[in-house]
Amino acid sequence: MKRLEDLIRSTRKNLQSAGISEYLLEAELIWMKALNLDRANLYLEFNESPNVRFIEYAAGLVSRRMKREPLAYILGKIEFFGKEFNVKPGVLIPRQDTETVVEEAIKILDDYGSTSTTIFDVGCGSGIIGISLAIRYPHARIFSIDSNLQACILTKQNAEKLGVGSQLQVVQSDLFTAINCGADLIIANLPYIPTSDIESLEPEVRVFEPRAALDGGIDGFSVTKRMLTQSSGLIKSGGAILLELSPELTDIAKNQIMEVFPNSIFATQRDLSGQIRVAIYTLPKLASDYKY
Ligand SMILES: C[S@@+](CC[C@H](N)C(=O)[O-])C[C@H]1O[C@@H](n2cnc3c(N)ncnc32)[C@H](O)[C@@H]1O
Repeated sequence: MKRLEDLIRSTRKNLQSAGISEYLLEAELIWMKALNLDRANLYLEFNESPNVRFIEYAAGLVSRRMKREPLAYILGKIEFFGKEFNVKPGVLIPRQDTETVVEEAIKILDDYGSTSTTIFDVGCGSGIIGISLAIRYPHARIFSIDSNLQACILTKQNAEKLGVGSQLQVVQSDLFTAINCGADLIIANLPYIPTSDIESLEPEVRVFEPRAALDGGIDGFSVTKRMLTQSSGLIKSGGAILLELSPELTDIAKNQIMEVFPNSIFATQRDLSGQIRVAIYTLPKLASDYKY
């Protein structure tokens, strides 16, 4: 019977041979999942020999990872903005960069003044943006929108798990087709990778993550452009639109504002690695909105 420490050592070797750069950490995370232990208890069990059932279960997880399935799908969860969200194959795995979008939304909402804002989270995926805002703004009304049914189901599950199920309306819709009300804030993390770049992505992303969550068309901006055009009839005056994008899309995003919202103010924000990651369009208040 092999000791846990030896089993973890051989998992590390297998992961390393499959080209997994974080093999040391990932071997421990896989065994923590297989044995349902936190890290401290995993170390306490190092001299024990796990039951064969657990060894077989861990072997299945390791074999999935060696085929380059993303670790988050194997573990079934990921942390985002301080909360644990479920993740599932078929729905994009949340990225840390998206926390910058949530931080920008918080700055806007804190300045906005109204407690009962309506927020659209378009292309909600696992629901991370809308749910993080629902937790912080209990009076906000949130519409989490995605064309992918699996994303809508996962968003609903995550909202319920994190206690904001009744605050969120999850709508399966191609952009705003099924939406018939206006919003104070529209947040969109829609696919923004140019089609020609998809083939050069890591296998974890290219093979396992849903293409409809990645492929932004020829220039990477085609879905977002369509969303901006549709949003002109939905966003309230004085409201704002936040987009997650890549630095290469900054100019196209800025030019687009001239066409759709000629009087709005355009700004960008960088992510933690210093790359432009968010575009912010702030719409002017109409004269009729001011109280003299
Ligand atoms: C880049 S993922 C972002 C997911 C999530 N917001 C996040 O940050 O992890 C883009 C999402 O947009 C959705 N999507 C793509 N095209 C769409 C469309 N036309 N209408 C609504 N959602 C769409 C995809 O299904 C996917 O869930």
